[in-house]
Amino acid sequence: MSSAEIAASVVRELEPEDFKLLKVFGSGLKGHEALSKSQLAAFSKMHPDIVDFRISKLQRSGLIVRNGRGYSLVMAGLDALALKMLADRDIVDAMGKPIGVGKESDVYEAISGTSQRLALKFFRIGRTSFRDVQRKRSVGSANAPSSMPAQRRSHHWLMVNIDAAKREFDALERLQLRNVQARIPNVYGRGMHCVVMGRIEGTRLVNVKKLDEPDSVLEQILYDVGSVYGAGIINADLSEYNVLIDAAGKAWIIDWPQSVLTSHPNAAYLIERDVRNVVKFFARRFRCKKQEDQALKQVLQAR
Ligand SMILES: Nc1ncnc2c1ncn2[C@@H]1O[C@H](COP(=O)(O)OP(=O)(O)O)[C@@H](O)[C@H]1O
Ligand SMILES: [Mg+2]
Repeated sequence: MSSAEIAASVVRELEPEDFKLLKVFGSGLKGHEALSKSQLAAFSKMHPDIVDFRISKLQRSGLIVRNGRGYSLVMAGLDALALKMLADRDIVDAMGKPIGVGKESDVYEAISGTSQRLALKFFRIGRTSFRDVQRKRSVGSANAPSSMPAQRRSHHWLMVNIDAAKREFDALERLQLRNVQARIPNVYGRGMHCVVMGRIEGTRLVNVKKLDEPDSVLEQILYDVGSVYGAGIINADLSEYNVLIDAAGKAWIIDWPQSVLTSHPNAAYLIERDVRNVVKFFARRFRCKKQEDQALKQVLQAR
């Protein structure tokens, strides 16, 4: 079972006092890498004996670990907390099967209380070094700040993932509030490092071998990139891996945590890279003849 699946099954067995403590870990993350028993008792306003009991339970469930200075959340604990927060706010009713594993996330299907089909995206940036921490090995991975002690590194990645989820949620929400007419996921909420989006039934463009009208799909993507740009946002990670093609042959642009505002110092470079990426892919895969410079001009004119 993956970390999110463990969390989903554990969440059902946790009691209100367990969640109370888990929430203290969540709100303590910003200022503390670990919390001592006395801090946990003070912050939760629970009796030290009860705290003791709940700590052992969370530890046994694999949601927190003991370390030198106290106790800290691990990824499964953050998953459980995210799921609980989303359930309490009636955003997510039940989590289902995995629907995608990206380079930096695990995505699951889910349904809302009103039976809407959702996609839950749990951020997993730095996941290899995370596993190392949980196996209590001290191996750094290429992009991990390996000079940090294991505990600091683990805490660092939790914060990085929460931050990435925030950035993706904020970008999608901004576009939604501005009523931007582009095929991007609806966004319903965020719990810690988990973004809740509308589920798109589709195939990643990179896996699509044949399109009925590739030229018009490309034009639609460029039009959407232009609308989003007009609303002040650049995806900045656009490629055949972040476009889904639905059953009607329509293209949806996903994966927004790296997006930047058009006021960003590298905006010109990033929008150009996004546009060239898609145009080049359509030329390679579908023999489309669209000129890159023409495509870029079209998108920039949307401002
Ligand atoms: N809203 C969604 N609806 C359906 N599937 C999705 C959705 N968002 C992501 N996925 C699936 O999860 C995979 C990873 O998501 P993505 O946002 O690209 O994250 P990563 O940063 O890990 O690449 C996608 O390739 C896709 O298969
Ligand atoms: Mg992606």
